[in-house]
Amino acid sequence: MKNLQLEDVILLLHPIFAVAVVFPLLGIVLYFAAQTRQRRLLPKEAGKKIPPTVGTEHLRLGRWLSNAVVGVALLGNAAPIFTKLSKEPTVDSFRVWFLILIIAATIASLVILNRARTQLWRGVFATLTGMGLIILGSQPEVYRRGEIYDFTNKQWFTQEWYLSHYYYGIAAALLMIFSLAIFPDIYKDRSQRWRKTHVVLNIIATLFFLGQGLTGPRDLLEIPLSWQTQHIYKCDYENNVCPP
Ligand code: HEM
Ligand code: HEM
Repeated sequence: MKNLQLEDVILLLHPIFAVAVVFPLLGIVLYFAAQTRQRRLLPKEAGKKIPPTVGTEHLRLGRWLSNAVVGVALLGNAAPIFTKLSKEPTVDSFRVWFLILIIAATIASLVILNRARTQLWRGVFATLTGMGLIILGSQPEVYRRGEIYDFTNKQWFTQEWYLSHYYYGIAAALLMIFSLAIFPDIYKDRSQRWRKTHVVLNIIATLFFLGQGLTGPRDLLEIPLSWQTQHIYKCDYENNVCPP
């Protein structure tokens, strides 16, 4: 611990929350999802062996999961933004307040989304929560592994966007917000269309979560401790060599 500075500890909060809270919750939600589907589809006798509460347990923990994923994505964006801004020689205080306002508005939208009853309000506050995440994620301090501008040679570089922790993370968080917005419709709809949509989209979300489990630890290994950065970033990342 003595090699960590405050800034490193702040950056660690996000992976700690993901590993200690989000992934265990995901495991339980997936277990109850499989039980819910089996109970509904197995022949009567076999299905009866599964308790009738699995659907509501899946929903109860699924709601916690969605909120936790939005939280972990906010933390993943906010931590690098504010630690990088705190090191700038001059900071635009309007921008700092704007970003704080966006974070507060995103959290408020998420809270209201959890309470909203009608389809209209759920749609409105799901959109606002998603927009908040995207606005934060679009800040130049957030590393997206997408495209970067090389100021020396005046050209854009395309990076490995298909292995981006940012894009998979935002996609997973948006799918969780969508689940929060539509889950009452799963019960209302006799044709089961929403149920099927929910299952397909959340299998995709589960793949994104798996992606986060791969790309997150990779990023953790690549990012140096704060007092090592000025030395490490002298390395040539194209050819994987460092000055002696
Ligand atoms: C993490 C990924 C998730 C997966 C893979 C998943 C998958 C499933 C599956 C397989 C079912 C059963 C479908 C059937 O009966 O055929 C289901 C039902 C349901 N899910 Fe999810 N789900 C996930 C997350 C969530 C979340 C985050 C919520 C709420 C915010 C949610 C709400 C519901 C509801 C309300 C039902 C209906 C339960 C019932 O029949 O009582 N799910 N889900
Ligand atoms: C549900 C799971 C997760 C989600 C939704 C998520 C989301 C995000 C987002 C949106 C960012 C900001 C973009 C970026 O810098 O790449 C981020 C950053 C990051 N995440 Fe995650 N993440 C998750 C899990 C993890 C895990 C399991 C780890 C590591 C064990 C991890 C490590 C990191 C690191 C090291 C950063 C970079 C922070 C920086 O740039 O200083 N994440 N995450």
